[in-house]
Amino acid sequence: MLPKIDFTTTQAYQYLADHFISINEHSIKDLFANDPERFQKFHLFLGDILFDYSKNRIDEQTMALLFQLARECKLNDAIEAMFSGEKINETENRAVLHTALRNRSDKPVITDGADVMPDIRAVLDRMKSFTERILSGAWKGFSGKEITDVVNIGIGGSDLGPVMVTEALKAYKTRLNMHFVSNVDGTHIVETLQGLNPETTLFLIASKTFTTQETMANANSAKEWFLKSGAKEADVAKHFAALSTNADGVSAFGIDTQNMFEFWDWVGGRYSLWSAIGLSISLAIGFDKFEELLTGAFEADEHFRNTELEQNIPVVMALLGVWYNNFFDAESQAILPYDQYLHRFAAYFQQGDMESNGKYIDRNGKRVDYETGPIIWGEPGTNGQHAFYQLIHQGTKLIPCDFIAPAVSLNQVGNHHELLLSNFFAQTEALMNGKTEAEVIAELQKAGKSQEEINRLTPFKIFEGNRPTNSILIKKITPRTLGALVALYEHKIFVQGVIWNIFSFDQWGVELGKQLANKILPELKGEAEVESHDSSTNALINQYKAWRG
Ligand code: F6P
Repeated sequence: MLPKIDFTTTQAYQYLADHFISINEHSIKDLFANDPERFQKFHLFLGDILFDYSKNRIDEQTMALLFQLARECKLNDAIEAMFSGEKINETENRAVLHTALRNRSDKPVITDGADVMPDIRAVLDRMKSFTERILSGAWKGFSGKEITDVVNIGIGGSDLGPVMVTEALKAYKTRLNMHFVSNVDGTHIVETLQGLNPETTLFLIASKTFTTQETMANANSAKEWFLKSGAKEADVAKHFAALSTNADGVSAFGIDTQNMFEFWDWVGGRYSLWSAIGLSISLAIGFDKFEELLTGAFEADEHFRNTELEQNIPVVMALLGVWYNNFFDAESQAILPYDQYLHRFAAYFQQGDMESNGKYIDRNGKRVDYETGPIIWGEPGTNGQHAFYQLIHQGTKLIPCDFIAPAVSLNQVGNHHELLLSNFFAQTEALMNGKTEAEVIAELQKAGKSQEEINRLTPFKIFEGNRPTNSILIKKITPRTLGALVALYEHKIFVQGVIWNIFSFDQWGVELGKQLANKILPELKGEAEVESHDSSTNALINQYKAWRG
């Protein structure tokens, strides 16, 4: 089980509170000026991933205290509890074993007295042969044609992971055209199916529970569209597969369980891209590459499980996050990939992080009196620079940022990559250094401005700097490096949940919305005035009824 320690009662927390006052007297820029070894001290490698955390508001004392905090919170025990299959998801009485899905060793992983590895390998074998049959054209649609298009229907963890990875690894794509439908808004499925041929389209219905309203609605509409083409009910088997833990739900929907790829309740939805939910990834890039993705994640798992805290990338990432969240009162964390292929990376970790650590009840069932999970957001650079970086540079909020970039571009066009990377390097430097009054005045004088203009403009052009950033430089985005990167972020989230003393693997908050939507659905039928809610909700529903005609 996970320890249940209030981290604000630890000795390290008290020391950090004092230390916070003294670190505030130093800017990151000064810390660099006073220590030529600073980068050496504050960077780590995992294979082809360089994690540079030297541009943070930390010194050696900060890190020592943060590691002490982790030790006082018994982080090492928590890591071992997760990897070894203990039921650390206590509110759902489940183990948390997405790491077993990418266990590339021959070691067993035991939970509930049984090794989960044989079942995992059996499903991987089925995913492999299915992928090969589809890609080779051996698998034929109902009219004897090859599959050309795959539509993954799922939402949340059954969509975001596959979409993010498929986009991130588009440079490695197979011949299949991949499509993803998640939103219950009919527009999503209608727009996706336009131009697709039912004879050559394969649907993957991705749902852990196989009860999610949005996914079931989209799956039913997809089936209707398919059957309208003249296909028979028996042909569904050639065009629909299910990725789920719920065999009964799959059969009830009309999908042959022969076409079901199973996973298990110890795989959290937002940690499921490594499971059968990754079938769309396997089809998009080929099974070998899907395995490389698993291998990369496995390498990050080994690093996380076996490396001392001081050298452990996810641990350092997490502790820095705690430092800003709980001492600097930073409310959000930006993830800024300088790679167009990673354009869904921040969206993916919005769910990963916010659904995991957006909790105000601690592991003792008590309301916390400190901040927990941050708001995660971000967009690819350099687009973000021309949109919201103004606030990061000169706004009143402190926003710690993760900058991510590959050294080698997968599309060498002219000097685009140098342009992109020069922005990547320039931004973290500018956020740290800012621009002093003297620099601004010198710049304005050089531009020939009058003294009156200089006096007027100077305050607006000063940048305080001292904005913290991590830089994650990756040699090249490959399935392996991407797998490792995603796993590092997953473990960061876990570590933070351990420190904040919350359960990171349930999501009761989302359940409430689902229940309420189901209650309102029948009220939308018919013309009768609705009076069962507050005056706002009643009025909105009744106006909707009046306008829909
Ligand atoms: O949004 C809540 C949630 O339960 C997520 O955790 C999950 O990823 C998503 O719904 C989809 O659930 P399912 O895979 O069961 O359809």
